[in-house]
Amino acid sequence: MKPTIEKLLRGNQEWAAGKLSEKPAFFTDMAKGQSPKFLWIGCSDSRVPAEQITQTGPGELFVHRNVANLVVPNDINLLSVLQYAVEELKVEDIIVCGHYGCGGVKAALAGQPMGLIDLWIANIKESYNHYESELKSLPEEARTRRLVELNVLEQINNLGKTSVIQNAWAKGTRPTLNGWVYDLATGKINVLHEEITNAEALKTAREFERKRRV
Ligand code: CO
Repeated sequence: MKPTIEKLLRGNQEWAAGKLSEKPAFFTDMAKGQSPKFLWIGCSDSRVPAEQITQTGPGELFVHRNVANLVVPNDINLLSVLQYAVEELKVEDIIVCGHYGCGGVKAALAGQPMGLIDLWIANIKESYNHYESELKSLPEEARTRRLVELNVLEQINNLGKTSVIQNAWAKGTRPTLNGWVYDLATGKINVLHEEITNAEALKTAREFERKRRV
């Protein structure tokens, strides 16, 4: 076996042993079922591990990750995760967490063809187009950072347009939608807006961003 692969498996053995010594029933309890309170939609980037940066553990986050934390309305993968999280697990909060320095966002701004992934990146370009006047006026680095933030807000908006969220909101105020950006350089999360619990709040948040000039 490759040493690099072996290292992962040894890590697993040590982790499992550690958990057992902390709490002998850890795994037998875990195997009974899950009731996470949060759905986390994040980037696939290896530097943004959802559980570690929020100090959560197994059973606490239901997680979906893809390149640039996108909520694409015809993505059956995301939609399945969303429906299961909201309707079956009844999560209380959904977090879309982007991160500064996101390769997907940079690629969208650079516009260099990269093959298949361009189809995916095209969704970020839509975020760009929506806020073009603001973004155009910014120097390059600030523009990338701002597009990371605006891209998260667009994904929050996309979530609000799904039937899963609209049906849930028709019955109550769960789940809340939360747009965050993680800063690789500080380890800290930047909260982009107040928790959104209905369509009106969503519209207000988006209009606010659209009119905003940095
Ligand atoms: Co990324």
